[in-house]
Amino acid sequence: MNLLFIGDIVGQPGRRAVKELLPGLRRQHQLDVVIANGENSAGGSGITVNTAAEIFAAGVDVITSGDHLWDQKEVMELLANEPRFVRPLNYPSGTPGHGSYVFQPQDKAKLCVLNLQGRTFMPALENPFHAALAEVKRLQQFTRTIFVDFHAEATSEKVALARMLDGEVAAVVGTHTHVQTADEQIFPGGTAFLCDAGFTGPHESVIGREIEPIVQRFLTGMPQRFDVAKERVLLQGVVVQIDEITSRATRIQRISQPL
Ligand SMILES: [Fe+2]
Ligand SMILES: [Fe+2]
Repeated sequence: MNLLFIGDIVGQPGRRAVKELLPGLRRQHQLDVVIANGENSAGGSGITVNTAAEIFAAGVDVITSGDHLWDQKEVMELLANEPRFVRPLNYPSGTPGHGSYVFQPQDKAKLCVLNLQGRTFMPALENPFHAALAEVKRLQQFTRTIFVDFHAEATSEKVALARMLDGEVAAVVGTHTHVQTADEQIFPGGTAFLCDAGFTGPHESVIGREIEPIVQRFLTGMPQRFDVAKERVLLQGVVVQIDEITSRATRIQRISQPL
């Protein structure tokens, strides 16, 4: 099974990159499944019903999210009605939505997508390590082919969670920093890992936003309007090949493709 995971889609340029580049990537990598982080897909902040629909229509099977979950009110509708939209599992119990999704891609074995959020330099949620252990055990009743999007800031937290899950899940890929790392590898137990998938959107920017207001913010500390940038749009992510019998990863390749 060939799976493409797309790093945080930022605004209209990011959505356009997915729409225009996905057909080619699907052919090139013989993709069976596409998962994308959509937390910045609506104007760079959050996700709406329409932006989610656009991403699904482009060929994405499952959308994950992160700390920008609540930026658009409309997300409540997705959380209530869209099973293919997954939020970090480790929000307190009672939070709307769900943290994992089990589905069966066409002619392929079952696959689970699990979304978690880190706690280092981020808002305090429930402990993602304990949440992951319990949820992976539960999901393994359905399949051991589990893909984890760990939305976190600190590299150590991401490596530690992935190491803890080595041999239990097929892949752990980080999101949130919007900076793609170069540490793709398969751990001894067969779990593929990449600390951060990067982001899909305009890279002539500061992690997707216009450069000057962000520099001013750091210079003065004053609030600024952060518009989504426009130039040098890249689709960033990772392709993971998974053996459907053993649920182990057999190959991992970073993607950074210009529009
Ligand atoms: Fe984030
Ligand atoms: Fe993001």
